[in-house]
Amino acid sequence: MDPIEALKEDHRKVEQLIEQFEMSGSDGSQDANQIVKTIIEELTLHTQIEEKLVYPFISEQVPELEENVLEAIEEHQIVKNLLKELKSTKRDDERLKVRMKVLKSNVLHHVQEEENEVFPKVQESCGPEDLEELGERLEQMKMRGVRATRRRSASKSGSRGRSSGRKQGRKTTPARSQQSRRRAA
Ligand SMILES: [Fe+2]
Ligand SMILES: [Fe+2]
Repeated sequence: MDPIEALKEDHRKVEQLIEQFEMSGSDGSQDANQIVKTIIEELTLHTQIEEKLVYPFISEQVPELEENVLEAIEEHQIVKNLLKELKSTKRDDERLKVRMKVLKSNVLHHVQEEENEVFPKVQESCGPEDLEELGERLEQMKMRGVRATRRRSASKSGSRGRSSGRKQGRKTTPARSQQSRRRAA
């Protein structure tokens, strides 16, 4: 597996998901809900793989990119903070759309730097065997990450299923929340 192509594929996938979110009306619907969840999962795994595997590889193999790597780590921190915020934003909160917009501009900027400045130098400086080995490790880490994410969401939906009966009584009914929104407007 070509590690650079795999990372670029992740980038395209997240860009498409953000576009899908924008087109879904970002209205707290089931669709928008699922897209936000997938964006958080995809970006969390992608940043983990880069930080644990790809960036240390670049630092070791292409020392002239050290400053770019340090900058990338700082940018990841910003993205991770935005993801945390997004995760805790209620799906009918109007700030969701704005927060996604801020995430988008940060992600696009970061992706552009990786693809235009970092990846070409890595391809130029590293031998095919080293890249091949990185690609294999990347694939393994990704598979482990995907399995862990699936396990987490399966156990979450299991516990939601069990407690949904009890929780429902305390929930504000949709009709009621619409009324209070109208009053607020
Ligand atoms: Fe990155
Ligand atoms: Fe990346």
